[in-house]
Amino acid sequence: MSKLKRVDLDLAERILYPTVPTIVLAEYNGRVSGMMAAWWTQLSFKPFLIGVAVAPERFTYKLILKSRIYSINFIDSSLINKTPYLGDISERFYPNKIIVAGFNIGRGEVLRAPILLDSSASLELELSRIVEVGDHDLIVGEVRSAYAIEDFNGMWMLRDYKPLMYLGRTRRPDKVKRVYVKCRDFEFTEIEYAPGDLREVASIRFKILDTLEGIFKGMAGRSRRKVLHELAGVLKEYNLDPSDTAYYYEELRRKA
Ligand SMILES: Cc1cc2nc3c(=O)[nH]c(=O)nc-3n(C[C@H](O)[C@H](O)[C@H](O)COP(=O)(O)O)c2cc1C
Repeated sequence: MSKLKRVDLDLAERILYPTVPTIVLAEYNGRVSGMMAAWWTQLSFKPFLIGVAVAPERFTYKLILKSRIYSINFIDSSLINKTPYLGDISERFYPNKIIVAGFNIGRGEVLRAPILLDSSASLELELSRIVEVGDHDLIVGEVRSAYAIEDFNGMWMLRDYKPLMYLGRTRRPDKVKRVYVKCRDFEFTEIEYAPGDLREVASIRFKILDTLEGIFKGMAGRSRRKVLHELAGVLKEYNLDPSDTAYYYEELRRKA
């Protein structure tokens, strides 16, 4: 018998947590606002794109739309008591909420975007596009500069930075509560990339990718049809489905 039990779709959003929420900060005409956002993700390496799902009603949404620059900031869990200013009330109804909350605002060095000086890390973004997806819009931005405290040494050491994690909120008619998790301790585990039996399969994959890339680059300026034909030859050699060539071509085209 499976351990999995059917979950009511009304509650299924909470399955997606815990996440580390980010604070989106924007400014237009001297007015700054910031909001918590749990629904964010990296979308691309090159260009370095991050997407945040933001409801059009948020005051921060309007500021991003007008100024086209903003930042995303990550705070330590010790700042938990300030989160209601960021996530429960709107700048539209409570002017200067960021300052009232006791946050300090600085500027990014590239875009002069407002950043939270009290954060553990901040990234400055330029609006790339807004995609209407549902009741929220996907705000896609390109990262133009990044800042972090010493704890970030090419990777988080998580000694001075204990990220705040969010588990969701309870529902009416009971008193609504936001549930956060504060982690005091972390256990680090390193596992080898494609260990043991997987090593050979992984290395064949990268060998094929290298070969395809070499062909793609060598055939710059040739027609798509001709390039596809050559790439398909490589896939056949490795007993792979030659019709998958189109996917590889697409990846190479975007990386070029
Ligand atoms: C932990 C947490 C996560 C949230 N995630 C999102 C989100 O991803 N997208 C969104 O539009 N609102 C999200 N919200 C709600 C906004 O932060 C909230 O509506 C905020 O008050 C908007 O402020 P503003 O109107 O000044 O921009 C979240 C709130 C909390 C507390």
